[in-house]
Amino acid sequence: MEVFKSIEPLQQALQKFKCNNKRIGFVPTMGALHKGHISLIEKSRAENEVTVCSIYVNPIQFNNSEDFKKYPKTIEKDIEILEKAGCDILFLPEDKVMYPEPPKVKFEFGALGNIMEGKFREGHFNGVAIVVSKLFNIVKPDNAYFGQKDLQQYLIVRQFAKDLSFNTNVHAVPIFREEDGLAMSSRNVRLSAGQRELAPKIFLALLLAKTLLLTKTVKETQEEIQHFFTPYPEFKLEYLEVVNKETLEIVSSVKDNKNLAVCIAIYLGDVRLIDNLFLFS
Ligand code: PAF
Repeated sequence: MEVFKSIEPLQQALQKFKCNNKRIGFVPTMGALHKGHISLIEKSRAENEVTVCSIYVNPIQFNNSEDFKKYPKTIEKDIEILEKAGCDILFLPEDKVMYPEPPKVKFEFGALGNIMEGKFREGHFNGVAIVVSKLFNIVKPDNAYFGQKDLQQYLIVRQFAKDLSFNTNVHAVPIFREEDGLAMSSRNVRLSAGQRELAPKIFLALLLAKTLLLTKTVKETQEEIQHFFTPYPEFKLEYLEVVNKETLEIVSSVKDNKNLAVCIAIYLGDVRLIDNLFLFS
């Protein structure tokens, strides 16, 4: 695997592949890689001749400075993981490469951006859109791969890639779970042993919500899920929403609506975790 820290040498290397009509697959990450990321790399390898991964903890997408400071950094282990997974190129830029000056552009995502993560993490998707569009401009991938765990991020990236005519197909890859159901996330390493034992309750809550929604309204389901977490004071539920999984429109009833996802954001101690489950799939 070749590692590049600056833009020009990376683009020169990529140009050789592009001239030979090789498809470039791209997996942007913030490092602290886990099996979920490996599944993105594998998908990219299956569908492209060249796979590029980036690792960059993007400061401008953190609405909470503590979360940014505590974001896990495991670069040596990440490089080993990527080598083993068969990644061809790693882009590992520093802040001065990504942001020679603070960006001033502001994105607006309409209905896709105002709810859930957009509502609770002000500025988050603007920061994501800026860094992802810069990375798309640098790498110019044919295909880019995002985890379905960040469903709203995937839909927003897919939308602005279309709106801005990026020549990149944006794909979602299913959530990768631990054996006990916990969705893989870089933030999981921040959980204490006790919190890690409690964490699978998040997936259980989604499964419970899915069952409840067969007979109850969304409001009743939200109340029951709140009760579900009451015996465990370390959890603080931020939201549980039922949305159209393409438009993110919030629904209040699942009746006759088959295209839905139930999405959750919850604090476990000071670690904020998100997860989602498609209904009727
Ligand atoms: O999902 C992530 O890890 C990040 O939001 C991304 C897409 C790499 C942008 O920084």
